[in-house]
Amino acid sequence: MYLSAANHRIPLSDGNSIPVIGLGTFSEPALTKKGDCAASVKIAINIGYRHFDGAHLYQNENEVGDAISEKIAEGKVKREDIFYCGKLWATNHVPEMVRPALERTLKSLKLDYVDLYIIEVPMAFKPGNEVYPKDENGKWLYHKSDLCATWEALEACKDAGLVKSLGVSNFNRRQLELILNKPGLKYKPVSNQVECHPYFTQPKLLKFCRQHDIVVVAYSPLGTSRNPLWVNISSPPLLNDALLNSLGKKYRKTAAQVALRFNIQRGVVVIPKSFKPERIKENFQIFDFSLTEEEMKSIEALNKNIRFVEMLMWCDHPEYPFHDEY
Ligand SMILES: NC(=O)c1ccc[n+]([C@@H]2O[C@H](COP(=O)([O-])OP(=O)(O)OC[C@H]3O[C@@H](n4cnc5c(N)ncnc54)[C@H](OP(=O)(O)O)[C@@H]3O)[C@@H](O)[C@H]2O)c1
Repeated sequence: MYLSAANHRIPLSDGNSIPVIGLGTFSEPALTKKGDCAASVKIAINIGYRHFDGAHLYQNENEVGDAISEKIAEGKVKREDIFYCGKLWATNHVPEMVRPALERTLKSLKLDYVDLYIIEVPMAFKPGNEVYPKDENGKWLYHKSDLCATWEALEACKDAGLVKSLGVSNFNRRQLELILNKPGLKYKPVSNQVECHPYFTQPKLLKFCRQHDIVVVAYSPLGTSRNPLWVNISSPPLLNDALLNSLGKKYRKTAAQVALRFNIQRGVVVIPKSFKPERIKENFQIFDFSLTEEEMKSIEALNKNIRFVEMLMWCDHPEYPFHDEY
Protein backbone atom coordinates (compact mmCIF):
# COMPACT_ATOMS: atom_id res chain seq x y z
CA MET A 1 0.00 0.00 0.00
CA TYR A 2 1.36 3.42 -0.96
CA LEU A 3 1.68 5.68 2.07
CA SER A 4 2.38 9.40 1.89
CA ALA A 5 2.57 12.31 4.31
CA ALA A 6 -0.77 13.53 2.99
CA ASN A 7 -2.48 10.15 2.82
CA HIS A 8 -1.40 7.44 5.21
CA ARG A 9 -4.53 5.86 6.59
CA ILE A 10 -4.80 2.09 6.60
CA PRO A 11 -8.11 0.20 6.82
CA LEU A 12 -9.62 -1.21 9.99
CA SER A 13 -11.84 -4.30 9.89
CA ASP A 14 -14.95 -2.31 10.87
CA GLY A 15 -14.82 -0.07 7.78
CA ASN A 16 -13.01 2.81 9.49
CA SER A 17 -9.33 3.64 8.96
CA ILE A 18 -6.34 4.66 11.09
CA PRO A 19 -3.40 6.93 10.23
CA VAL A 20 -0.26 4.78 10.23
CA ILE A 21 1.62 7.26 12.42
CA GLY A 22 0.32 9.00 15.49
CA LEU A 23 1.86 11.18 18.17
CA GLY A 24 2.25 9.40 21.50
CA THR A 25 1.33 11.74 24.34
CA PHE A 26 2.56 10.01 27.47
CA SER A 27 5.05 12.19 29.34
CA GLU A 28 5.79 11.78 33.06
CA PRO A 29 3.29 14.28 34.55
CA ALA A 30 5.72 15.33 37.31
CA LEU A 31 8.46 16.13 34.80
CA THR A 32 6.37 17.83 32.15
CA LYS A 33 5.59 21.55 32.01
CA LYS A 34 1.91 22.49 31.72
CA GLY A 35 1.20 23.41 28.13
CA ASP A 36 3.98 21.29 26.57
CA CYS A 37 1.54 18.62 25.47
CA ALA A 38 -0.89 21.11 23.88
CA ALA A 39 1.96 22.90 22.11
CA SER A 40 3.30 19.58 20.79
CA VAL A 41 -0.09 18.47 19.47
CA LYS A 42 -0.52 21.79 17.65
CA ILE A 43 2.96 21.54 16.11
CA ALA A 44 2.22 17.96 15.11
CA ILE A 45 -1.03 18.97 13.37
CA ASN A 46 0.84 21.68 11.46
CA ILE A 47 3.42 19.11 10.37
CA GLY A 48 0.77 16.66 9.15
CA TYR A 49 0.06 14.28 12.03
CA ARG A 50 -3.62 13.42 12.28
CA HIS A 51 -3.52 10.64 14.86
CA PHE A 52 -3.03 11.18 18.60
CA ASP A 53 -2.59 8.44 21.13
CA GLY A 54 -3.63 9.37 24.64
CA ALA A 55 -5.24 8.19 27.84
CA HIS A 56 -7.02 9.49 30.89
CA LEU A 57 -4.11 8.02 32.85
CA TYR A 58 -1.65 10.42 31.16
CA GLN A 59 -3.33 13.42 32.87
CA ASN A 60 -3.14 15.58 29.76
CA GLU A 61 -6.18 14.69 27.69
CA ASN A 62 -7.48 18.21 28.33
CA GLU A 63 -4.36 19.62 26.63
CA VAL A 64 -4.74 17.29 23.66
CA GLY A 65 -8.37 18.38 23.39
CA ASP A 66 -7.51 22.09 23.65
CA ALA A 67 -4.96 21.76 20.86
CA ILE A 68 -7.37 19.88 18.60
CA SER A 69 -10.18 22.39 19.24
CA GLU A 70 -7.85 25.29 18.47
CA LYS A 71 -6.74 23.76 15.18
CA ILE A 72 -10.33 23.03 14.20
CA ALA A 73 -11.36 26.61 15.08
CA GLU A 74 -8.45 27.92 12.99
CA GLY A 75 -9.73 25.92 10.03
CA LYS A 76 -6.48 23.94 9.78
CA VAL A 77 -8.29 20.61 10.18
CA LYS A 78 -11.81 19.26 10.50
CA ARG A 79 -12.88 16.90 13.28
CA GLU A 80 -13.12 14.03 10.82
CA ASP A 81 -9.47 14.50 9.80
CA ILE A 82 -8.36 13.78 13.35
CA PHE A 83 -8.03 10.31 14.84
CA TYR A 84 -7.91 10.11 18.64
CA CYS A 85 -7.29 6.91 20.55
CA GLY A 86 -8.26 6.88 24.24
CA LYS A 87 -7.81 4.10 26.80
CA LEU A 88 -9.92 2.45 29.48
CA TRP A 89 -7.82 2.20 32.62
CA ALA A 90 -7.58 -0.91 34.82
CA THR A 91 -9.71 0.51 37.65
CA ASN A 92 -12.68 0.91 35.29
CA HIS A 93 -13.16 -2.59 33.90
CA VAL A 94 -16.42 -3.17 35.75
CA PRO A 95 -19.11 -2.87 33.04
CA GLU A 96 -21.04 -0.05 34.78
CA MET A 97 -17.84 1.99 34.96
CA VAL A 98 -16.94 1.78 31.28
CA ARG A 99 -19.26 4.41 29.83
CA PRO A 100 -18.63 6.96 32.62
CA ALA A 101 -14.87 6.51 32.06
CA LEU A 102 -15.24 7.15 28.34
CA GLU A 103 -17.50 10.14 29.05
CA ARG A 104 -14.81 11.58 31.34
CA THR A 105 -12.33 11.30 28.49
CA LEU A 106 -14.74 12.97 26.07
CA LYS A 107 -15.33 15.79 28.55
CA SER A 108 -11.58 16.39 28.95
CA LEU A 109 -11.14 16.34 25.18
CA LYS A 110 -14.24 18.45 24.55
CA LEU A 111 -15.18 16.00 21.80
CA ASP A 112 -18.40 14.09 21.33
CA TYR A 113 -16.75 10.88 20.15
CA VAL A 114 -13.34 9.26 20.05
CA ASP A 115 -12.15 7.37 17.00
CA LEU A 116 -10.77 4.43 18.93
CA TYR A 117 -11.18 3.35 22.55
CA ILE A 118 -9.09 0.47 23.82
CA ILE A 119 -8.80 -1.62 26.97
CA GLU A 120 -5.39 -0.36 28.15
CA VAL A 121 -4.34 -3.58 29.89
CA PRO A 122 -6.08 -6.94 30.34
CA MET A 123 -5.53 -6.85 34.12
CA ALA A 124 -8.05 -5.15 36.40
CA PHE A 125 -7.20 -3.18 39.51
CA LYS A 126 -9.59 -2.65 42.42
CA PRO A 127 -12.36 -0.44 40.99
CA GLY A 128 -12.45 3.11 42.27
CA ASN A 129 -10.79 6.48 42.08
CA GLU A 130 -7.34 5.31 43.23
CA VAL A 131 -5.45 4.88 39.94
CA TYR A 132 -2.77 2.62 41.44
CA PRO A 133 -4.57 1.05 44.42
CA LYS A 134 -2.47 -0.59 47.16
CA ASP A 135 -3.34 -2.00 50.58
CA GLU A 136 -1.84 -0.74 53.85
CA ASN A 137 1.16 -3.03 53.33
CA GLY A 138 1.92 -1.60 49.91
CA LYS A 139 0.53 -4.63 48.07
CA TRP A 140 -1.22 -4.00 44.75
CA LEU A 141 -4.99 -4.42 44.94
CA TYR A 142 -5.89 -6.56 41.94
CA HIS A 143 -9.42 -7.26 40.78
CA LYS A 144 -10.64 -10.26 38.84
CA SER A 145 -10.86 -9.41 35.13
CA ASP A 146 -13.95 -10.30 33.15
CA LEU A 147 -12.74 -9.15 29.77
CA CYS A 148 -15.85 -10.31 27.92
CA ALA A 149 -18.14 -8.30 30.22
CA THR A 150 -15.92 -5.22 29.81
CA TRP A 151 -15.99 -5.73 26.05
CA GLU A 152 -19.80 -5.85 25.98
CA ALA A 153 -19.90 -2.52 27.82
CA LEU A 154 -17.57 -1.09 25.18
CA GLU A 155 -19.84 -2.41 22.42
CA ALA A 156 -22.70 -0.47 24.02
CA CYS A 157 -20.58 2.71 23.91
CA LYS A 158 -20.05 2.19 20.19
CA ASP A 159 -23.78 1.69 19.69
CA ALA A 160 -24.35 4.93 21.61
CA GLY A 161 -22.07 6.77 19.16
CA LEU A 162 -19.39 7.66 21.73
CA VAL A 163 -16.66 5.76 19.89
CA LYS A 164 -16.13 4.73 16.26
CA SER A 165 -13.87 1.70 16.72
CA LEU A 166 -12.99 -0.62 19.58
CA GLY A 167 -9.64 -2.20 20.35
CA VAL A 168 -7.39 -3.59 23.03
CA SER A 169 -3.85 -3.15 24.31
CA ASN A 170 -1.30 -5.50 25.84
CA PHE A 171 -3.48 -8.50 24.98
CA ASN A 172 -1.79 -11.79 24.22
CA ARG A 173 -3.10 -14.38 21.80
CA ARG A 174 -5.25 -16.16 24.42
CA GLN A 175 -6.90 -12.91 25.50
CA LEU A 176 -7.59 -11.90 21.89
CA GLU A 177 -9.15 -15.31 21.29
CA LEU A 178 -11.29 -14.87 24.37
CA ILE A 179 -12.91 -11.81 22.77
CA LEU A 180 -12.94 -13.17 19.21
CA ASN A 181 -14.69 -16.37 20.38
CA LYS A 182 -17.10 -14.64 22.77
CA PRO A 183 -20.63 -15.92 22.14
CA GLY A 184 -22.73 -13.12 20.65
CA LEU A 185 -19.72 -10.94 19.78
CA LYS A 186 -21.04 -7.79 18.12
CA TYR A 187 -17.81 -5.95 17.25
CA LYS A 188 -14.37 -7.48 16.80
CA PRO A 189 -11.36 -5.63 18.21
CA VAL A 190 -9.87 -3.68 15.29
CA SER A 191 -6.45 -3.22 16.86
CA ASN A 192 -4.07 -4.41 19.56
CA GLN A 193 -1.61 -1.83 20.89
CA VAL A 194 1.56 -3.55 22.08
CA GLU A 195 5.27 -2.87 22.46
CA CYS A 196 6.85 -3.29 19.03
CA HIS A 197 10.17 -2.12 17.54
CA PRO A 198 13.29 -3.69 15.99
CA TYR A 199 14.41 -5.19 19.33
CA PHE A 200 10.93 -6.61 20.01
CA THR A 201 9.40 -7.36 16.64
CA GLN A 202 6.46 -9.52 17.80
CA PRO A 203 6.57 -12.02 14.88
CA LYS A 204 4.02 -14.46 16.32
CA LEU A 205 1.50 -11.96 17.66
CA LEU A 206 1.77 -9.99 14.42
CA LYS A 207 1.04 -13.10 12.35
CA PHE A 208 -1.95 -13.97 14.55
CA CYS A 209 -3.30 -10.41 14.35
CA ARG A 210 -2.91 -10.32 10.57
CA GLN A 211 -4.86 -13.57 10.29
CA HIS A 212 -7.69 -11.99 12.28
CA ASP A 213 -7.68 -8.57 10.61
CA ILE A 214 -6.43 -6.89 13.78
CA VAL A 215 -4.08 -3.95 13.18
CA VAL A 216 -1.04 -3.94 15.45
CA VAL A 217 -0.24 -0.52 16.89
CA ALA A 218 3.36 -0.25 18.09
CA TYR A 219 3.91 1.56 21.35
CA SER A 220 7.42 2.55 22.40
CA PRO A 221 8.45 2.28 18.71
CA LEU A 222 11.70 4.16 19.48
CA GLY A 223 12.54 2.06 22.51
CA THR A 224 10.85 4.17 25.24
CA SER A 225 12.14 7.11 27.27
CA ARG A 226 14.26 4.63 29.31
CA ASN A 227 12.82 5.81 32.59
CA PRO A 228 14.13 3.15 35.00
CA LEU A 229 10.95 3.48 37.10
CA TRP A 230 9.04 1.50 34.49
CA VAL A 231 11.47 0.54 31.74
CA ASN A 232 13.72 -2.53 31.72
CA ILE A 233 16.96 -0.75 30.85
CA SER A 234 19.04 -3.94 30.80
CA SER A 235 18.16 -4.06 27.10
CA PRO A 236 20.45 -1.61 25.25
CA PRO A 237 19.14 1.69 23.80
CA LEU A 238 17.45 0.95 20.48
CA LEU A 239 18.50 4.17 18.79
CA ASN A 240 22.22 3.38 19.31
CA ASP A 241 21.88 0.27 17.19
CA ALA A 242 24.64 -0.05 14.57
CA LEU A 243 22.43 -1.43 11.78
CA LEU A 244 19.69 1.20 12.24
CA ASN A 245 22.36 3.92 12.19
CA SER A 246 24.13 2.54 9.13
CA LEU A 247 20.85 2.26 7.21
CA GLY A 248 20.09 5.79 8.35
CA LYS A 249 23.37 6.92 6.84
CA LYS A 250 22.53 5.23 3.55
CA TYR A 251 19.14 6.99 3.30
CA ARG A 252 20.18 10.27 5.01
CA LYS A 253 17.82 9.41 7.83
CA THR A 254 18.21 8.88 11.56
CA ALA A 255 18.03 5.57 13.41
CA ALA A 256 14.63 6.73 14.73
CA GLN A 257 13.29 7.24 11.21
CA VAL A 258 14.57 3.82 10.12
CA ALA A 259 12.95 2.14 13.15
CA LEU A 260 9.60 3.82 12.39
CA ARG A 261 9.81 3.12 8.65
CA PHE A 262 10.47 -0.56 9.39
CA ASN A 263 7.16 -0.87 11.20
CA ILE A 264 4.94 1.16 8.88
CA GLN A 265 6.36 -0.67 5.88
CA ARG A 266 5.08 -3.94 7.36
CA GLY A 267 1.65 -2.49 8.14
CA VAL A 268 2.27 -1.75 11.81
CA VAL A 269 1.00 1.63 13.07
CA VAL A 270 3.57 3.63 15.08
CA ILE A 271 2.92 6.17 17.84
CA PRO A 272 6.31 7.74 18.68
CA LYS A 273 6.22 10.28 21.50
CA SER A 274 8.18 13.49 21.42
CA PHE A 275 7.40 16.91 22.83
CA LYS A 276 10.39 18.44 20.99
CA PRO A 277 9.42 20.24 17.75
CA GLU A 278 12.47 19.05 15.79
CA ARG A 279 11.88 15.42 16.73
CA ILE A 280 8.12 15.61 16.15
CA LYS A 281 9.04 16.71 12.62
CA GLU A 282 11.81 14.15 12.20
CA ASN A 283 9.57 11.28 13.25
CA PHE A 284 7.00 12.21 10.60
CA GLN A 285 9.56 12.28 7.75
CA ILE A 286 9.28 8.59 7.01
CA PHE A 287 7.28 8.64 3.80
CA ASP A 288 10.05 9.68 1.39
CA PHE A 289 12.20 6.55 1.52
CA SER A 290 11.71 2.81 1.68
CA LEU A 291 13.73 -0.12 2.92
CA THR A 292 14.55 -3.04 0.64
CA GLU A 293 13.19 -6.48 1.40
CA GLU A 294 16.65 -7.57 2.48
CA GLU A 295 16.98 -4.58 4.82
CA MET A 296 13.57 -5.34 6.32
CA LYS A 297 14.78 -8.90 6.99
CA SER A 298 18.02 -7.72 8.54
CA ILE A 299 16.09 -5.39 10.88
CA GLU A 300 13.72 -8.23 11.78
CA ALA A 301 16.80 -10.23 12.77
CA LEU A 302 17.63 -7.64 15.44
CA ASN A 303 14.76 -9.02 17.53
CA LYS A 304 16.02 -9.78 21.05
CA ASN A 305 12.66 -10.92 22.42
CA ILE A 306 13.21 -8.75 25.48
CA ARG A 307 10.59 -6.21 26.49
CA PHE A 308 11.41 -2.71 27.60
CA VAL A 309 7.93 -2.47 29.14
CA GLU A 310 7.40 -5.44 31.45
CA MET A 311 4.57 -4.12 33.66
CA LEU A 312 5.93 -6.11 36.59
CA MET A 313 3.46 -4.66 39.09
CA TRP A 314 0.99 -7.01 37.48
CA CYS A 315 3.14 -10.12 37.23
CA ASP A 316 1.04 -11.96 39.86
CA HIS A 317 -2.31 -11.04 38.29
CA PRO A 318 -4.05 -14.04 36.66
CA GLU A 319 -4.39 -12.09 33.40
CA TYR A 320 -0.73 -10.93 33.27
CA PRO A 321 -0.24 -11.34 29.53
CA PHE A 322 3.51 -11.72 29.25
CA HIS A 323 3.97 -15.12 30.89
CA ASP A 324 2.57 -16.69 27.71
CA GLU A 325 4.78 -17.02 24.67
CA TYR A 326 2.72 -14.46 22.73
N1 LIG B 1 -0.72 0.90 25.76
C1 LIG B 1 0.32 0.96 26.57
O1 LIG B 1 0.42 0.20 27.54
C2 LIG B 1 1.42 1.94 26.29
C3 LIG B 1 2.66 1.79 26.93
C4 LIG B 1 3.67 2.69 26.61
C5 LIG B 1 3.44 3.71 25.70
N2 LIG B 1 2.22 3.87 25.11
C6 LIG B 1 1.96 4.93 24.11
O2 LIG B 1 3.01 4.90 23.14
C7 LIG B 1 3.64 6.18 23.06
C8 LIG B 1 5.10 6.02 22.68
O3 LIG B 1 5.80 5.17 23.56
P1 LIG B 1 6.92 5.69 24.57
O4 LIG B 1 6.61 7.08 24.95
O5 LIG B 1 7.08 4.67 25.62
O6 LIG B 1 8.26 5.61 23.77
P2 LIG B 1 8.90 6.04 22.35
O7 LIG B 1 7.94 6.78 21.52
O8 LIG B 1 9.52 4.80 21.83
O9 LIG B 1 10.08 6.97 22.83
C9 LIG B 1 9.88 8.20 23.44
C10 LIG B 1 11.22 8.74 23.89
O10 LIG B 1 12.08 8.92 22.77
C11 LIG B 1 12.48 10.29 22.67
N3 LIG B 1 12.47 10.61 21.22
C12 LIG B 1 11.39 10.86 20.45
N4 LIG B 1 11.75 11.06 19.17
C13 LIG B 1 13.10 10.91 19.13
C14 LIG B 1 14.04 11.00 18.09
N5 LIG B 1 13.68 11.26 16.84
N6 LIG B 1 15.36 10.81 18.40
C15 LIG B 1 15.74 10.52 19.67
N7 LIG B 1 14.88 10.43 20.71
C16 LIG B 1 13.56 10.62 20.43
C17 LIG B 1 11.46 11.08 23.48
O11 LIG B 1 12.01 12.22 24.07
P3 LIG B 1 11.50 13.75 23.81
O12 LIG B 1 10.05 13.81 24.13
O13 LIG B 1 12.36 14.50 24.76
O14 LIG B 1 11.81 14.02 22.38
C18 LIG B 1 11.10 10.06 24.57
O15 LIG B 1 12.04 10.09 25.62
C19 LIG B 1 3.38 6.78 24.44
O16 LIG B 1 3.58 8.18 24.45
C20 LIG B 1 1.95 6.36 24.67
O17 LIG B 1 1.07 7.19 23.93
C21 LIG B 1 1.22 2.97 25.39
